[in-house]
Amino acid sequence: MEQLYKEKHRPQFHFSPEEKWMNDPNGMVFFNDEYHLFYQYHPFGTTWGPMHWGHAVSKDLIHWKQLPIGLYPDEHGAIFSGSAIVDWNNTSGFFQDGPGLVAIYTSADNYPDSDRPRQRQSLAYSNDNGRTWIKYEGNPILSDVNITDYRDPKVFWHDETNKWVMVLATGQSVTIYTSANLKDWEFASEFGNKAGSHEGVWECPDLFRLPVDGDKNKQKWVMFVSIGDNHDFKEGSRTQYFVGQFDGTTFVNDNSDETILWMDHGRDNYAGVSWSDIPAEDGKRIYIGWMSNWRYANQVPTEEWRSAMTLPRELSLTSSKEGVRLVQRVVPEINSIRKGTEVFQDLTIGKNQPAIFNLFSPLMEVNIELKKQTSNSFGIVLQSSDDEKTVIRYDVEMEKLFVDRTEAGDNSFSESFAAVQEAFLKMENNKINLQIFIDASSIEVFAEDGKVAFTSLIFPKKPYEQLVLFSDEGKILVSSLKLTELDSIWVK
Ligand code: FRU
Repeated sequence: MEQLYKEKHRPQFHFSPEEKWMNDPNGMVFFNDEYHLFYQYHPFGTTWGPMHWGHAVSKDLIHWKQLPIGLYPDEHGAIFSGSAIVDWNNTSGFFQDGPGLVAIYTSADNYPDSDRPRQRQSLAYSNDNGRTWIKYEGNPILSDVNITDYRDPKVFWHDETNKWVMVLATGQSVTIYTSANLKDWEFASEFGNKAGSHEGVWECPDLFRLPVDGDKNKQKWVMFVSIGDNHDFKEGSRTQYFVGQFDGTTFVNDNSDETILWMDHGRDNYAGVSWSDIPAEDGKRIYIGWMSNWRYANQVPTEEWRSAMTLPRELSLTSSKEGVRLVQRVVPEINSIRKGTEVFQDLTIGKNQPAIFNLFSPLMEVNIELKKQTSNSFGIVLQSSDDEKTVIRYDVEMEKLFVDRTEAGDNSFSESFAAVQEAFLKMENNKINLQIFIDASSIEVFAEDGKVAFTSLIFPKKPYEQLVLFSDEGKILVSSLKLTELDSIWVK
Protein backbone atom coordinates (compact mmCIF):
# COMPACT_ATOMS: atom_id res chain seq x y z
CA MET A 1 0.00 0.00 0.00
CA GLU A 2 2.96 2.31 0.65
CA GLN A 3 3.58 2.57 -3.06
CA LEU A 4 -0.06 3.17 -4.01
CA TYR A 5 -0.43 6.22 -6.29
CA LYS A 6 3.34 6.39 -6.63
CA GLU A 7 3.65 3.88 -9.45
CA LYS A 8 5.33 4.81 -12.72
CA HIS A 9 2.98 6.91 -14.92
CA ARG A 10 0.41 7.24 -12.10
CA PRO A 11 -1.45 10.54 -12.54
CA GLN A 12 -0.95 12.75 -9.50
CA PHE A 13 -3.72 15.33 -9.98
CA HIS A 14 -6.17 13.40 -12.11
CA PHE A 15 -8.56 10.79 -10.80
CA SER A 16 -7.56 7.19 -11.49
CA PRO A 17 -8.96 4.13 -9.72
CA GLU A 18 -6.87 2.64 -6.92
CA GLU A 19 -6.47 -0.45 -9.08
CA LYS A 20 -7.78 -2.21 -12.21
CA TRP A 21 -9.59 -1.06 -15.33
CA MET A 22 -11.74 2.06 -15.72
CA ASN A 23 -13.52 3.64 -18.71
CA ASP A 24 -16.41 6.14 -18.99
CA PRO A 25 -17.41 8.48 -16.18
CA ASN A 26 -20.96 7.66 -15.05
CA GLY A 27 -23.66 8.86 -12.68
CA MET A 28 -22.09 12.22 -11.92
CA VAL A 29 -24.31 14.02 -9.48
CA PHE A 30 -23.88 16.63 -6.75
CA PHE A 31 -25.78 15.87 -3.56
CA ASN A 32 -25.36 16.81 0.12
CA ASP A 33 -22.12 18.69 -0.52
CA GLU A 34 -20.48 15.84 -2.41
CA TYR A 35 -19.61 15.39 -6.05
CA HIS A 36 -20.13 11.77 -7.01
CA LEU A 37 -18.12 10.16 -9.75
CA PHE A 38 -19.11 6.65 -10.76
CA TYR A 39 -17.32 5.00 -13.64
CA GLN A 40 -17.22 1.94 -15.87
CA TYR A 41 -15.12 -0.48 -13.87
CA HIS A 42 -13.73 -3.97 -14.24
CA PRO A 43 -12.54 -5.06 -10.77
CA PHE A 44 -10.90 -8.31 -11.91
CA GLY A 45 -8.51 -7.04 -14.54
CA THR A 46 -6.72 -4.16 -16.21
CA THR A 47 -8.54 -4.61 -19.50
CA TRP A 48 -12.23 -4.09 -20.29
CA GLY A 49 -14.46 -6.82 -18.85
CA PRO A 50 -17.81 -7.32 -17.09
CA MET A 51 -18.80 -3.80 -16.18
CA HIS A 52 -19.52 -2.56 -12.67
CA TRP A 53 -19.88 1.04 -11.50
CA GLY A 54 -16.84 2.05 -9.50
CA HIS A 55 -17.32 4.99 -7.15
CA ALA A 56 -15.41 7.99 -5.80
CA VAL A 57 -16.51 11.21 -4.09
CA SER A 58 -15.05 14.66 -3.79
CA LYS A 59 -15.81 17.93 -2.02
CA ASP A 60 -13.92 20.05 -4.54
CA LEU A 61 -13.71 18.00 -7.79
CA ILE A 62 -9.94 17.83 -7.35
CA HIS A 63 -9.31 15.62 -4.30
CA TRP A 64 -11.07 12.26 -4.61
CA LYS A 65 -11.87 9.58 -2.10
CA GLN A 66 -12.10 6.07 -3.45
CA LEU A 67 -15.23 4.23 -2.24
CA PRO A 68 -16.35 0.61 -2.65
CA ILE A 69 -18.03 -0.47 -5.92
CA GLY A 70 -21.46 1.12 -6.34
CA LEU A 71 -23.26 -1.23 -8.74
CA TYR A 72 -22.62 -4.92 -9.52
CA PRO A 73 -23.82 -6.93 -12.51
CA ASP A 74 -27.10 -8.75 -11.88
CA GLU A 75 -29.63 -11.04 -13.60
CA HIS A 76 -30.10 -8.39 -16.31
CA GLY A 77 -26.43 -8.24 -17.13
CA ALA A 78 -23.46 -5.95 -16.73
CA ILE A 79 -23.84 -2.29 -15.72
CA PHE A 80 -22.98 -0.09 -18.71
CA SER A 81 -22.85 3.70 -18.74
CA GLY A 82 -25.59 5.93 -17.43
CA SER A 83 -26.42 8.85 -15.22
CA ALA A 84 -27.72 9.71 -11.76
CA ILE A 85 -30.06 12.42 -10.54
CA VAL A 86 -31.51 13.70 -7.28
CA ASP A 87 -35.22 12.88 -7.15
CA TRP A 88 -36.08 15.98 -5.12
CA ASN A 89 -39.85 15.48 -5.16
CA ASN A 90 -39.89 11.70 -4.94
CA THR A 91 -41.48 11.37 -8.39
CA SER A 92 -40.28 7.77 -8.42
CA GLY A 93 -41.88 6.87 -5.11
CA PHE A 94 -38.60 5.23 -4.05
CA PHE A 95 -38.06 7.44 -1.01
CA GLN A 96 -39.80 7.88 2.32
CA ASP A 97 -38.05 10.82 3.94
CA GLY A 98 -36.80 13.50 1.64
CA PRO A 99 -34.92 13.25 -1.62
CA GLY A 100 -32.59 10.48 -2.73
CA LEU A 101 -30.41 9.45 -5.64
CA VAL A 102 -31.63 7.49 -8.65
CA ALA A 103 -29.21 5.92 -11.13
CA ILE A 104 -30.38 5.24 -14.69
CA TYR A 105 -28.03 2.88 -16.53
CA THR A 106 -27.85 0.29 -19.28
CA SER A 107 -28.21 -3.38 -18.37
CA ALA A 108 -26.11 -5.24 -20.92
CA ASP A 109 -26.38 -8.95 -21.70
CA ASN A 110 -27.27 -11.07 -24.76
CA TYR A 111 -30.62 -12.07 -26.16
CA PRO A 112 -31.48 -15.57 -24.88
CA ASP A 113 -29.63 -18.31 -26.81
CA SER A 114 -28.01 -15.76 -29.05
CA ASP A 115 -24.78 -13.81 -29.50
CA ARG A 116 -26.73 -10.65 -30.20
CA PRO A 117 -26.09 -8.01 -27.55
CA ARG A 118 -29.14 -6.86 -25.62
CA GLN A 119 -29.09 -3.40 -24.06
CA ARG A 120 -31.94 -2.22 -21.85
CA GLN A 121 -32.30 0.60 -19.36
CA SER A 122 -32.60 0.02 -15.62
CA LEU A 123 -32.92 1.94 -12.35
CA ALA A 124 -31.30 1.74 -8.93
CA TYR A 125 -31.82 4.06 -5.99
CA SER A 126 -29.92 5.03 -2.89
CA ASN A 127 -31.08 6.32 0.49
CA ASP A 128 -27.59 6.81 1.87
CA ASN A 129 -25.77 9.27 -0.37
CA GLY A 130 -24.86 6.69 -2.97
CA ARG A 131 -23.07 4.34 -0.56
CA THR A 132 -25.46 1.46 -1.20
CA TRP A 133 -27.96 0.92 -3.99
CA ILE A 134 -31.22 -0.99 -4.37
CA LYS A 135 -32.08 -2.18 -7.86
CA TYR A 136 -35.65 -1.46 -8.91
CA GLU A 137 -37.71 -4.66 -9.02
CA GLY A 138 -39.38 -3.58 -12.27
CA ASN A 139 -36.08 -3.51 -14.22
CA PRO A 140 -35.51 -3.18 -17.08
CA ILE A 141 -37.68 -0.12 -17.61
CA LEU A 142 -36.96 0.64 -21.27
CA SER A 143 -36.06 -1.65 -24.17
CA ASP A 144 -36.40 -1.90 -27.94
CA VAL A 145 -35.75 -5.21 -29.69
CA ASN A 146 -35.16 -3.45 -32.99
CA ILE A 147 -32.18 -1.41 -31.86
CA THR A 148 -29.01 -3.21 -30.86
CA ASP A 149 -26.87 -0.23 -29.81
CA TYR A 150 -29.30 1.18 -27.28
CA ARG A 151 -27.46 2.62 -24.34
CA ASP A 152 -25.99 5.27 -22.05
CA PRO A 153 -29.10 7.07 -20.70
CA LYS A 154 -28.53 10.61 -19.44
CA VAL A 155 -31.51 11.98 -17.55
CA PHE A 156 -32.37 15.51 -16.41
CA TRP A 157 -35.41 17.40 -15.12
CA HIS A 158 -37.02 19.81 -17.60
CA ASP A 159 -38.79 22.55 -15.64
CA GLU A 160 -40.99 24.01 -18.37
CA THR A 161 -42.67 20.70 -19.23
CA ASN A 162 -42.44 19.32 -15.70
CA LYS A 163 -40.92 16.10 -16.94
CA TRP A 164 -37.81 13.99 -16.85
CA VAL A 165 -35.98 13.86 -20.17
CA MET A 166 -33.70 11.02 -21.24
CA VAL A 167 -31.22 11.19 -24.08
CA LEU A 168 -30.18 7.74 -25.22
CA ALA A 169 -27.61 6.64 -27.80
CA THR A 170 -29.44 4.61 -30.47
CA GLY A 171 -26.99 3.46 -33.13
CA GLN A 172 -26.39 6.52 -35.32
CA SER A 173 -28.77 8.84 -33.50
CA VAL A 174 -29.87 10.09 -30.11
CA THR A 175 -33.41 9.20 -29.09
CA ILE A 176 -35.20 11.42 -26.60
CA TYR A 177 -37.75 10.01 -24.14
CA THR A 178 -39.78 11.73 -21.42
CA SER A 179 -41.24 10.52 -18.13
CA ALA A 180 -43.11 11.79 -15.08
CA ASN A 181 -41.80 9.15 -12.68
CA LEU A 182 -38.49 7.80 -14.07
CA LYS A 183 -40.10 4.36 -14.50
CA ASP A 184 -42.43 4.85 -17.49
CA TRP A 185 -40.86 6.42 -20.55
CA GLU A 186 -42.44 7.72 -23.71
CA PHE A 187 -40.74 8.30 -27.07
CA ALA A 188 -40.41 12.04 -27.80
CA SER A 189 -38.13 12.43 -30.83
CA GLU A 190 -34.98 11.25 -32.57
CA PHE A 191 -32.05 13.45 -33.51
CA GLY A 192 -29.01 13.22 -35.66
CA ASN A 193 -29.21 10.46 -38.25
CA LYS A 194 -27.79 12.86 -40.80
CA ALA A 195 -26.13 15.45 -38.58
CA GLY A 196 -22.51 15.73 -37.51
CA SER A 197 -19.98 12.94 -37.56
CA HIS A 198 -21.00 9.31 -38.07
CA GLU A 199 -17.50 7.89 -38.17
CA GLY A 200 -18.38 5.51 -35.36
CA VAL A 201 -21.28 4.30 -33.23
CA TRP A 202 -22.96 7.06 -31.23
CA GLU A 203 -22.45 6.75 -27.49
CA CYS A 204 -22.82 8.65 -24.21
CA PRO A 205 -25.03 11.63 -25.11
CA ASP A 206 -25.72 14.58 -22.85
CA LEU A 207 -28.06 17.57 -23.24
CA PHE A 208 -28.06 20.76 -21.19
CA ARG A 209 -28.54 24.48 -21.54
CA LEU A 210 -26.04 27.30 -21.12
CA PRO A 211 -26.17 31.07 -21.42
CA VAL A 212 -24.46 32.54 -24.49
CA ASP A 213 -21.72 35.04 -23.61
CA GLY A 214 -22.85 34.88 -20.00
CA ASP A 215 -26.27 36.36 -20.84
CA LYS A 216 -28.96 34.45 -18.90
CA ASN A 217 -31.62 35.73 -21.28
CA LYS A 218 -29.89 34.18 -24.24
CA GLN A 219 -29.71 30.45 -23.76
CA LYS A 220 -28.77 27.63 -26.06
CA TRP A 221 -28.83 23.88 -25.63
CA VAL A 222 -25.72 21.78 -26.09
CA MET A 223 -25.77 18.13 -27.03
CA PHE A 224 -22.70 15.96 -26.50
CA VAL A 225 -22.32 12.81 -28.57
CA SER A 226 -19.30 10.54 -28.36
CA ILE A 227 -18.44 8.46 -31.39
CA GLY A 228 -16.77 5.08 -31.03
CA ASP A 229 -13.54 3.84 -32.55
CA ASN A 230 -13.53 2.96 -36.23
CA HIS A 231 -10.36 1.66 -37.83
CA ASP A 232 -10.90 3.72 -40.95
CA PHE A 233 -10.16 6.92 -39.03
CA LYS A 234 -6.85 7.64 -37.37
CA GLU A 235 -8.34 9.63 -34.50
CA GLY A 236 -10.09 6.65 -32.89
CA SER A 237 -12.89 7.47 -30.47
CA ARG A 238 -13.79 11.14 -29.88
CA THR A 239 -16.57 13.45 -28.83
CA GLN A 240 -18.57 15.95 -30.87
CA TYR A 241 -21.15 18.49 -29.78
CA PHE A 242 -24.14 20.25 -31.28
CA VAL A 243 -25.60 23.65 -30.39
CA GLY A 244 -29.30 24.31 -30.78
CA GLN A 245 -32.75 24.59 -29.23
CA PHE A 246 -34.74 22.15 -27.13
CA ASP A 247 -38.39 22.50 -26.12
CA GLY A 248 -38.72 19.45 -23.88
CA THR A 249 -39.41 17.17 -26.83
CA THR A 250 -37.25 17.96 -29.83
CA PHE A 251 -33.67 19.11 -30.30
CA VAL A 252 -33.15 21.43 -33.28
CA ASN A 253 -29.59 21.88 -34.48
CA ASP A 254 -28.56 25.50 -35.13
CA ASN A 255 -25.93 24.40 -37.64
CA SER A 256 -26.04 22.59 -40.95
CA ASP A 257 -25.91 18.78 -40.89
CA GLU A 258 -22.40 19.01 -42.33
CA THR A 259 -21.04 21.06 -39.45
CA ILE A 260 -18.91 18.97 -37.13
CA LEU A 261 -17.84 20.48 -33.83
CA TRP A 262 -15.21 18.58 -31.83
CA MET A 263 -15.03 18.97 -28.12
CA ASP A 264 -11.33 18.31 -27.88
CA HIS A 265 -8.55 18.12 -30.47
CA GLY A 266 -6.39 15.73 -28.51
CA ARG A 267 -6.87 12.00 -28.79
CA ASP A 268 -7.70 11.34 -25.16
CA ASN A 269 -10.99 12.80 -24.08
CA TYR A 270 -13.91 10.43 -24.53
CA ALA A 271 -17.40 9.74 -23.19
CA GLY A 272 -17.49 13.01 -21.25
CA VAL A 273 -20.79 14.04 -19.69
CA SER A 274 -21.77 16.67 -17.14
CA TRP A 275 -22.66 16.72 -13.45
CA SER A 276 -26.31 16.75 -12.54
CA ASP A 277 -27.89 18.82 -9.76
CA ILE A 278 -25.26 21.46 -9.27
CA PRO A 279 -27.41 24.06 -7.46
CA ALA A 280 -29.05 26.60 -9.77
CA GLU A 281 -27.65 29.53 -7.78
CA ASP A 282 -24.16 28.22 -8.57
CA GLY A 283 -25.20 27.62 -12.17
CA LYS A 284 -22.06 25.83 -13.28
CA ARG A 285 -22.06 23.12 -15.91
CA ILE A 286 -19.05 20.92 -15.27
CA TYR A 287 -17.99 17.82 -17.11
CA ILE A 288 -15.23 15.25 -16.96
CA GLY A 289 -14.09 12.87 -19.71
CA TRP A 290 -12.35 9.53 -19.83
CA MET A 291 -8.73 10.37 -20.62
CA SER A 292 -8.11 7.60 -23.11
CA ASN A 293 -9.08 6.31 -26.53
CA TRP A 294 -10.65 2.96 -27.43
CA ARG A 295 -7.96 2.59 -30.11
CA TYR A 296 -5.31 1.74 -27.52
CA ALA A 297 -6.94 2.05 -24.08
CA ASN A 298 -6.43 -1.64 -23.33
CA GLN A 299 -2.73 -1.45 -24.19
CA VAL A 300 -1.41 1.68 -22.47
CA PRO A 301 1.71 0.85 -20.44
CA THR A 302 0.39 0.84 -16.88
CA GLU A 303 0.18 -2.23 -14.73
CA GLU A 304 -1.76 -1.82 -11.51
CA TRP A 305 -4.54 0.36 -12.91
CA ARG A 306 -5.60 1.49 -16.35
CA SER A 307 -6.94 4.93 -17.28
CA ALA A 308 -7.61 8.25 -15.62
CA MET A 309 -10.20 10.99 -16.04
CA THR A 310 -9.49 14.43 -17.55
CA LEU A 311 -9.38 17.41 -15.25
CA PRO A 312 -12.94 18.56 -14.49
CA ARG A 313 -13.86 21.48 -16.75
CA GLU A 314 -16.46 24.19 -16.55
CA LEU A 315 -18.36 24.79 -19.77
CA SER A 316 -19.64 28.00 -21.30
CA LEU A 317 -20.78 29.25 -24.70
CA THR A 318 -19.27 32.09 -26.63
CA SER A 319 -20.40 33.63 -29.89
CA SER A 320 -17.96 34.05 -32.73
CA LYS A 321 -18.11 34.79 -36.43
CA GLU A 322 -18.54 31.10 -37.14
CA GLY A 323 -21.38 30.70 -34.61
CA VAL A 324 -21.82 29.79 -30.96
CA ARG A 325 -18.98 27.65 -29.66
CA LEU A 326 -18.16 25.71 -26.52
CA VAL A 327 -15.48 26.94 -24.15
CA GLN A 328 -13.95 24.78 -21.44
CA ARG A 329 -11.87 25.85 -18.48
CA VAL A 330 -10.44 23.76 -15.66
CA VAL A 331 -12.57 24.34 -12.55
CA PRO A 332 -11.26 27.12 -10.26
CA GLU A 333 -10.88 24.60 -7.44
CA ILE A 334 -7.58 23.65 -9.11
CA ASN A 335 -6.25 26.54 -7.09
CA SER A 336 -6.17 24.25 -4.04
CA ILE A 337 -3.17 22.39 -5.49
CA ARG A 338 -1.25 25.38 -6.83
CA LYS A 339 2.10 25.89 -5.09
CA GLY A 340 5.11 28.05 -5.87
CA THR A 341 5.28 30.08 -9.06
CA GLU A 342 7.94 31.73 -11.18
CA VAL A 343 6.96 34.59 -13.43
CA PHE A 344 8.82 35.98 -16.45
CA GLN A 345 7.92 38.88 -18.69
CA ASP A 346 8.81 40.43 -22.01
CA LEU A 347 11.30 37.96 -23.41
CA THR A 348 12.23 38.05 -27.04
CA ILE A 349 12.74 34.71 -28.78
CA GLY A 350 14.48 34.47 -32.13
CA LYS A 351 15.50 31.71 -34.50
CA ASN A 352 18.81 30.98 -32.84
CA GLN A 353 17.72 32.51 -29.62
CA PRO A 354 15.49 30.07 -27.70
CA ALA A 355 14.79 30.51 -24.01
CA ILE A 356 15.15 27.53 -21.71
CA PHE A 357 13.45 27.17 -18.35
CA ASN A 358 13.78 24.58 -15.67
CA LEU A 359 10.56 22.73 -14.85
CA PHE A 360 11.09 22.63 -11.14
CA SER A 361 8.45 19.97 -10.48
CA PRO A 362 7.14 16.95 -12.40
CA LEU A 363 3.63 18.39 -11.86
CA MET A 364 3.27 21.76 -13.51
CA GLU A 365 0.90 24.32 -14.86
CA VAL A 366 2.21 26.69 -17.52
CA ASN A 367 0.44 29.92 -18.46
CA ILE A 368 1.93 31.79 -21.35
CA GLU A 369 1.10 34.63 -23.70
CA LEU A 370 2.99 34.72 -26.98
CA LYS A 371 3.00 37.68 -29.31
CA LYS A 372 3.91 37.20 -32.93
CA GLN A 373 6.43 39.66 -34.28
CA THR A 374 8.13 38.43 -37.43
CA SER A 375 7.86 34.69 -36.82
CA ASN A 376 5.42 32.41 -38.62
CA SER A 377 6.11 29.28 -36.62
CA PHE A 378 6.85 29.16 -32.93
CA GLY A 379 6.05 27.29 -29.78
CA ILE A 380 7.06 25.32 -26.75
CA VAL A 381 9.01 22.11 -26.28
CA LEU A 382 8.58 20.19 -23.06
CA GLN A 383 11.53 17.83 -22.85
CA SER A 384 13.67 15.55 -20.74
CA SER A 385 17.35 14.68 -20.93
CA ASP A 386 16.29 11.31 -22.39
CA ASP A 387 15.42 13.13 -25.62
CA GLU A 388 11.73 12.66 -25.04
CA LYS A 389 9.54 15.63 -25.79
CA THR A 390 6.10 17.01 -26.54
CA VAL A 391 6.05 19.93 -28.96
CA ILE A 392 3.31 22.55 -28.97
CA ARG A 393 3.63 24.68 -32.10
CA TYR A 394 1.61 27.44 -33.71
CA ASP A 395 1.69 27.93 -37.45
CA VAL A 396 0.63 31.45 -38.38
CA GLU A 397 -0.04 30.81 -42.06
CA MET A 398 -2.02 27.64 -41.48
CA GLU A 399 -3.76 29.19 -38.46
CA LYS A 400 -3.25 25.91 -36.67
CA LEU A 401 -2.07 24.78 -33.29
CA PHE A 402 -0.27 21.43 -33.10
CA VAL A 403 0.44 19.16 -30.16
CA ASP A 404 3.02 16.64 -31.32
CA ARG A 405 3.54 13.60 -29.12
CA THR A 406 5.40 11.46 -31.67
CA GLU A 407 8.50 11.54 -29.48
CA ALA A 408 6.76 12.06 -26.14
CA GLY A 409 7.81 8.78 -24.59
CA ASP A 410 6.79 5.13 -24.91
CA ASN A 411 4.55 4.62 -27.90
CA SER A 412 5.49 1.04 -28.68
CA PHE A 413 2.19 -0.38 -27.39
CA SER A 414 0.09 0.86 -30.34
CA GLU A 415 0.79 2.04 -33.87
CA SER A 416 -1.92 4.66 -33.45
CA PHE A 417 -0.43 6.34 -30.42
CA ALA A 418 2.36 8.46 -31.92
CA ALA A 419 0.42 11.40 -33.31
CA VAL A 420 0.50 15.03 -34.26
CA GLN A 421 -2.77 16.49 -32.98
CA GLU A 422 -4.02 19.71 -34.55
CA ALA A 423 -6.76 22.33 -34.42
CA PHE A 424 -7.67 25.51 -36.26
CA LEU A 425 -7.05 28.53 -34.11
CA LYS A 426 -7.17 32.18 -35.09
CA MET A 427 -4.78 34.56 -33.41
CA GLU A 428 -6.38 37.67 -32.05
CA ASN A 429 -4.33 40.87 -32.13
CA ASN A 430 -1.32 38.75 -33.07
CA LYS A 431 -1.41 37.08 -29.65
CA ILE A 432 -2.11 33.63 -28.40
CA ASN A 433 -2.45 32.40 -24.84
CA LEU A 434 -1.97 28.86 -23.64
CA GLN A 435 -2.58 27.07 -20.36
CA ILE A 436 -0.87 23.72 -20.05
CA PHE A 437 -1.23 21.08 -17.33
CA ILE A 438 1.54 18.51 -17.10
CA ASP A 439 0.89 15.37 -15.05
CA ALA A 440 2.83 12.10 -14.94
CA SER A 441 1.15 10.69 -18.04
CA SER A 442 -0.84 13.48 -19.63
CA ILE A 443 -0.71 16.96 -21.06
CA GLU A 444 -3.79 19.14 -21.34
CA VAL A 445 -3.49 22.28 -23.44
CA PHE A 446 -6.13 25.03 -23.40
CA ALA A 447 -5.69 27.77 -25.98
CA GLU A 448 -7.34 31.20 -26.10
CA ASP A 449 -8.94 30.91 -22.65
CA GLY A 450 -10.39 27.48 -23.31
CA LYS A 451 -11.73 27.94 -26.84
CA VAL A 452 -9.57 25.06 -28.03
CA ALA A 453 -8.58 22.07 -25.91
CA PHE A 454 -6.12 19.23 -26.45
CA THR A 455 -6.07 16.29 -24.06
CA SER A 456 -3.15 14.04 -24.76
CA LEU A 457 -1.70 11.04 -22.96
CA ILE A 458 2.10 10.67 -22.84
CA PHE A 459 4.29 7.99 -21.31
CA PRO A 460 7.77 9.46 -20.82
CA LYS A 461 10.48 7.44 -19.04
CA LYS A 462 10.88 10.25 -16.59
CA PRO A 463 9.20 13.63 -16.10
CA TYR A 464 10.01 16.45 -18.50
CA GLU A 465 12.60 18.74 -16.96
CA GLN A 466 12.78 21.65 -19.34
CA LEU A 467 10.55 24.05 -21.19
CA VAL A 468 12.05 25.57 -24.33
CA LEU A 469 10.49 28.52 -26.14
CA PHE A 470 11.44 28.54 -29.80
CA SER A 471 10.83 30.33 -33.05
CA ASP A 472 11.53 28.58 -36.35
CA GLU A 473 12.36 31.88 -38.01
CA GLY A 474 11.86 35.53 -37.10
CA LYS A 475 10.94 36.76 -33.65
CA ILE A 476 8.23 36.43 -31.06
CA LEU A 477 7.68 38.22 -27.81
CA VAL A 478 6.75 36.27 -24.71
CA SER A 479 4.71 38.88 -22.92
CA SER A 480 4.26 36.66 -19.88
CA LEU A 481 5.21 33.20 -18.73
CA LYS A 482 4.10 31.75 -15.42
CA LEU A 483 5.30 28.38 -14.19
CA THR A 484 3.33 26.95 -11.29
CA GLU A 485 4.15 23.84 -9.33
CA LEU A 486 1.12 21.65 -8.63
CA ASP A 487 0.66 19.32 -5.70
CA SER A 488 -0.35 15.67 -5.77
CA ILE A 489 -3.98 15.06 -4.75
CA TRP A 490 -3.08 11.75 -3.13
CA VAL A 491 -2.08 11.46 0.52
CA LYS A 492 1.69 11.47 0.88
C1 FRU B 1 -18.38 4.12 -24.25
C2 FRU B 1 -19.04 2.78 -24.00
C3 FRU B 1 -20.51 2.97 -23.73
C4 FRU B 1 -20.86 1.75 -22.93
C5 FRU B 1 -19.60 1.54 -22.12
C6 FRU B 1 -19.28 0.11 -21.83
O1 FRU B 1 -17.03 4.14 -24.01
O2 FRU B 1 -18.82 1.93 -25.12
O3 FRU B 1 -21.30 3.15 -24.88
O4 FRU B 1 -21.98 1.93 -22.13
O5 FRU B 1 -18.54 2.13 -22.84
O6 FRU B 1 -18.24 0.00 -20.92
